[in-house]
Amino acid sequence: MFRKSVILMALCVAVLSSTAAAAPSANLNDLLAAYKGEKNAQVRYVLFAQQADKEGYKGAASLFRAIARAEQVHYENNAISIKKLGGAANAKMETPVVKSTKENLEAALKDKSQKGEGKVEAIHAKLLKKALDNLEAWKAQKKDFFVCLVCGNVTEDKAPAICPICGAPKEKFTAVN
Ligand SMILES: [Fe+2]
Repeated sequence: MFRKSVILMALCVAVLSSTAAAAPSANLNDLLAAYKGEKNAQVRYVLFAQQADKEGYKGAASLFRAIARAEQVHYENNAISIKKLGGAANAKMETPVVKSTKENLEAALKDKSQKGEGKVEAIHAKLLKKALDNLEAWKAQKKDFFVCLVCGNVTEDKAPAICPICGAPKEKFTAVN
């Protein structure tokens, strides 16, 4: 799974950075599978945020919204790659399973762990773990997160001068809370 994620990420970078014809090794099916996963994840995290708001977990809701925005960055990047390979970015949408916020955090953490150890996924997982460990402490107030619109990196409290993952400048981060 880890190897697959690495290959897929390399493939996305190669396709995005290339203005020439697609590399013959590019695997459209892998990109379509990733697109489907990210598109469904985005919807799931939006619903998790709504559930957290309903239960009064304001900080967890903020994090779910930030990760949902990051998933959007990922599927939009994938859609560009898919288009460059001559494909159409369509995804079969699943019915999300929404439980309690604690369970949703646990499910999200499990999902991020299963997706491999890509740097951005690892950062999302770390923040989800922090939200789980601080569920009550984070309850009273929304929290500020910053999402890199280039790579989907998420930072807490402030945007870095330069994204440590993709090198994008601070201006490429958007605040989500
Ligand atoms: Fe970035």
